[in-house]
Amino acid sequence: MTDYLKTAVEAARAAGSLLKQNFGQQLDVNQFEAHDIKLDLDVRSQELITGILLGRYPDHAIYGEEGIAGNQDSPFQWIVDPIDGTVNFFYGIPHFCISIALRHEGKIILGVILDPMRDELWEVSDGCPALLNSQPIHASSRAKLADAVLSVGFAKSKASINTGLPLFEKLVVRARKCRLMGSAALDLAYVASGRLDAYIESSVSLWDVAAGKLLLEAAGGRCDLTPHPDQPDKLAIFATNGVLDLNVD
Ligand code: IPD
Ligand code: CA
Ligand code: CA
Repeated sequence: MTDYLKTAVEAARAAGSLLKQNFGQQLDVNQFEAHDIKLDLDVRSQELITGILLGRYPDHAIYGEEGIAGNQDSPFQWIVDPIDGTVNFFYGIPHFCISIALRHEGKIILGVILDPMRDELWEVSDGCPALLNSQPIHASSRAKLADAVLSVGFAKSKASINTGLPLFEKLVVRARKCRLMGSAALDLAYVASGRLDAYIESSVSLWDVAAGKLLLEAAGGRCDLTPHPDQPDKLAIFATNGVLDLNVD
């Protein structure tokens, strides 16, 4: 296990250096979508991570936002988001990360999230404490919505905005503050660290949240993922410190 974790950290740090070097520089855009941007750097970051992971474990599989690689029949699958928060990155907002998780026979067994701009590294492996820069972390103990700061995410589809907005309207009135921060993996890392009390989004992908879910659960929080009713491969996420009462009715 330690070797897997070490390799994941090495891969995240290599990608982190690449992102930091390119932050604020002229960037090649592969694709502009209605609400999204795909950078050449997303692909380069995943290639770098893939090279390190498969270099060490040639028989493993990679399942990343920028594609799959390796042996897809392997019981070991690395779940990679090479830049989580690409739009922030492109606009020069230093709030983005690299997220890497390892799934073995369907179970997530480790996760690493690196914010290269603040040099914050979260790591967790199954059955072990959640760590931020090697120090144990814990989710907050705020139970009342009126005391809570929440992060809410909206994906790009009209359907997911329509689903999310009515809940957001209620939360924004009841919670201390709501934030839209633009990186699902950092949202989860922040809930795990007690900085945020909850994170909610109606449509995310597994690479956005695989590492963060394990991290948050190890930090005493709760993370519910439910398959999206209309979009295969998409999930609704409801993540809290484990004690917050999110009832808005
Ligand atoms: C996105 C970010 C954003 C979330 C979107 C994700 P990307 O990931 O995590 O916060 O709201 O649902 O797709 O595209 O920057 O990797
Ligand atoms: Ca993402
Ligand atoms: Ca991404």
